[in-house]
Amino acid sequence: MIEIEARLDELRALGLERRTSLVSGPQGPHVLLDGKPVLLLCSNNYLGLADDPRVRAAAAEAAMRWGVGAGASRLVSGTMTIHRRLEQRLAAFERRQAALLFGSGYLANTGVISALARPGDVVFSDELNHASIIDGCRLSRAEVFVYNHCDLEHLRWGIGRAEGRGALVATDGVFSMDGDVAPLAEIAELAARHRMRVLVDEAHGTGALGPGGRGAAAAAGVEEQVDVIVGTLGKALGSYGAFVACDSTMARYLVGAARTFIFSTALPPPAAAAALAALELLQERPERVHKLAANAAVLRTELEREGFDLRGARTQIVPLVIGEPGLATAICEAARRRGVFAQAIRPPTVPPMTSRLRLAVMASHREQELRTAARMLGTAARACGLPLRGAGARPLEPARPAQTRHALAAAPAQPGRREVFDVEVRAA
Ligand SMILES: Cc1ncc(COP(=O)(O)O)c(C=O)c1O
Repeated sequence: MIEIEARLDELRALGLERRTSLVSGPQGPHVLLDGKPVLLLCSNNYLGLADDPRVRAAAAEAAMRWGVGAGASRLVSGTMTIHRRLEQRLAAFERRQAALLFGSGYLANTGVISALARPGDVVFSDELNHASIIDGCRLSRAEVFVYNHCDLEHLRWGIGRAEGRGALVATDGVFSMDGDVAPLAEIAELAARHRMRVLVDEAHGTGALGPGGRGAAAAAGVEEQVDVIVGTLGKALGSYGAFVACDSTMARYLVGAARTFIFSTALPPPAAAAALAALELLQERPERVHKLAANAAVLRTELEREGFDLRGARTQIVPLVIGEPGLATAICEAARRRGVFAQAIRPPTVPPMTSRLRLAVMASHREQELRTAARMLGTAARACGLPLRGAGARPLEPARPAQTRHALAAAPAQPGRREVFDVEVRAA
């Protein structure tokens, strides 16, 4: 049995204890955090739609018209008209035959991956994929080949070793903690050559990248080669929930095969209506996507000027990799005292010794406040003793372990499940 007090003490000693802060007001650029005004620089409300008046009004109206809850799984108490409307609009946005709503991105990834792979198959998964992809792989009970981050050679090698048993390549489009983008054109080409399916998680790509904000696959020009797009409604679209965009046969299959669709209550009508209004706004005013990119560029430039090494981040997600969890927390606190809130992200969300401040830009930030925030973050980092480039010290070298232990490899093996691929690759 887990000794909970002892475990909490252990986490505290390792600098890994987690706590939430209290935010007053909506997820806008400015919030009261535990009663103190700060610039919010870690919310995924990328387009500022979570607090947009039209989106709020849509949710309020939906609550009055359809009520606040969906009552049951759609397979039990039915698809509500607002679900149908949102799915049609999402399918048109993604230029797919169909879209299917899920309760969240976590539920979409776990449900879809476990429906698309089974024991005896091999799933290929980038080592920095989101936890929901990792857990989907685990649930599938397929073998999992964890390839080094964005390493096509490694992926190719693994596909060869799988000897035709490869079923699926699953990858984040934009990596949630690093802000870099998967090499989707090459992945799609490899998968097609080896007759495997491709799933791209566009949680941080939808509304942020590509033509019209259609995501990383659209930006790479490979939408048609991707079998399943997983998009979320809780980030750029400002609401809650998720969707899968795919062909109509796949959608029909998932309705009966994705356990997180079957065994979970459908999306609440206000959340669905808010996402629909947000999607309409995105399509009417795509300039929000450009503003987000422009803001992100301003922040990245200013942070580099401060001496931070951004490790190739090129999206609205900007990681400041620190290393030690305790130091990352100290810098987060120091920045908070200076009026900037960028959460410290620590293991197991990120690999050991790569704790970081994960900054997330919004289109609703003003450029001047982003410049000021970069200065405050530089000041906070230096005050905590972090050497920054140009500050007379050696460049910030984020500590990445020579041999990355991925959560999948580190996970206790499930009965009957072989992790041979991962083990052999690490030994190679
Ligand atoms: C890449 C990625 N996929 C999926 C999810 C899960 O989405 P949701 O928050 O809707 O469960 C997240 C959430 O942070 C994410 O970053």
